[in-house]
Amino acid sequence: MASFLQIPDDEKGYDLNLFCVPKHYEEDLDRVIIPHGIIMDRTERLARDIMQDMGGHHIVALCVLKGGYKFFADLLDYIKALNQNSDKSVPLTVDFIRLKSYCNDQSTNSVKVIGGDELSALTGKNVLIVEDIVETGRTMQTLLSLLNEYSPKMVKVVSLLVKRTPKSLGYRPDYIGFEVPDKFLVGYALDYNEYFRDLSHICVMNENGRDKYKV
Ligand code: IMP
Ligand code: MG
Repeated sequence: MASFLQIPDDEKGYDLNLFCVPKHYEEDLDRVIIPHGIIMDRTERLARDIMQDMGGHHIVALCVLKGGYKFFADLLDYIKALNQNSDKSVPLTVDFIRLKSYCNDQSTNSVKVIGGDELSALTGKNVLIVEDIVETGRTMQTLLSLLNEYSPKMVKVVSLLVKRTPKSLGYRPDYIGFEVPDKFLVGYALDYNEYFRDLSHICVMNENGRDKYKV
């Protein structure tokens, strides 16, 4: 089973005032739960683990937009660094898909694909799906069954976060950055109705934020 850094349920995190947080969000957040530096350090190690397993063949990295874009960019930078500093290297190409399953802070039952390239390009390829967070697992299960129709050679999933929640359907990604408590998290491209993507750290939103950006 994939190893991960576990953030316990009683994790207090860090006071917002100890880090740099945009002024426009100061009233909307409770605590910093994963500082940006720790995200980067964990991502560097995920890149190494992934290259160890998948580094034999051309990899197509598939970014699940929009929430996955920061993690995707940083993970690929670390993979690139490995590729350019060792004797062994593999071509890495990128692709993007847009899925939407959330309204306010609730996962909905329908997962919509609303964009992306021609998926037939993935036939016969080693595909690495890069996702921000797995909660129920419905989004990933939907995407995996969609991809399988195009017969890729191999599919691996890396998710920066996995939520410990009774709503989970039991799906676990191949690579996991952190396992996090059942709270609504924002920052590092994770959003609440499109807000908070412009925040570097992963934070817990407060009631004020919930009301202010509700749709
Ligand atoms: P799932 O289908 O329930 O696994 O939900 C996965 C998707 O819901 C993720 O790709 C996110 O876009 C979104 N999501 C789930 N939990 C959170 C959260 O705490 N903050 C922000 N987005 C979330
Ligand atoms: Mg997502």
